[in-house]
Amino acid sequence: MKLILLGAPGAGKGTQAEKIIDKYKIPQISTGDILRENVKNQTELGLKAKEYMEKGELVPDDVIIGIIKDRLAKDDCRNGYILDGFPRTIPQAEALTEALKPDKIDKVIFINVSDDVVIERLSLRRVCKNCGAIYHMKYNPPKEEGVCDKCGGEVYQRDDDKEETIKNRLKVYREQTEPLVKYYSDSGLLVEIDGTKSVDEIANDIDSVLSKIGGN
Ligand code: AP5
Repeated sequence: MKLILLGAPGAGKGTQAEKIIDKYKIPQISTGDILRENVKNQTELGLKAKEYMEKGELVPDDVIIGIIKDRLAKDDCRNGYILDGFPRTIPQAEALTEALKPDKIDKVIFINVSDDVVIERLSLRRVCKNCGAIYHMKYNPPKEEGVCDKCGGEVYQRDDDKEETIKNRLKVYREQTEPLVKYYSDSGLLVEIDGTKSVDEIANDIDSVLSKIGGN
């Protein structure tokens, strides 16, 4: 099963990907996570990506497309995967379509939310530095402040979850990523999910879409 999770920053892509990987045993490929890991390890890629990420801008297409092609060639992708945060521009989507030929993506799950919801979700989001578990200080706080329930790691606020950067990420999303809704709708792959529901309700809605795909 090859899936794309599409949606604004903070729509809940990572939250839902955690649930899908548990149930369907396919890897989550998050370009944001790959980039953050490189920033943490101060690799050449990380140093380059940091400049863009701090401002809420997109990392250039050629860099991201190279990362994804390498990642999809790994063994664990043979039975499928969930792409979270990729593609984010039309050239990225076209490069993916080309790279997969003659195969193709099974479904694009578009989690639709308004800007107000995004701002509330991202400004109160906290993430585990160690295992990546996602929390929200109002809806799903860690039991002990600053400590991950799952692994005991440090729970922190992402640098790009500050208000000014969130606003720019949203602007970039509307300009560069939202056109993908039409792109995948025209190709008959898009399923729209109401992202304003609760985490479990959205997971059920996605599950009923995925259960109809069948096979890997
Ligand atoms: P990335 O890490 O991909 O960030 P993003 O797309 O902005 O998405 P987020 O991780 O912020 O949000 P999400 O939808 O996963 O929401 P979450 O589940 O955490 O990218 C970061 C940066 O890397 C980009 O800005 C760019 O610079 C670069 N980059 C990455 N990919 C790139 C690409 N392909 N091309 C170029 N550049 C790229 O949920 C958010 C919060 O809401 C959490 O607190 C959660 O607990 C809560 N929540 C979730 N669902 C619900 C719900 N239903 N009800 C209540 N609360 C909820």
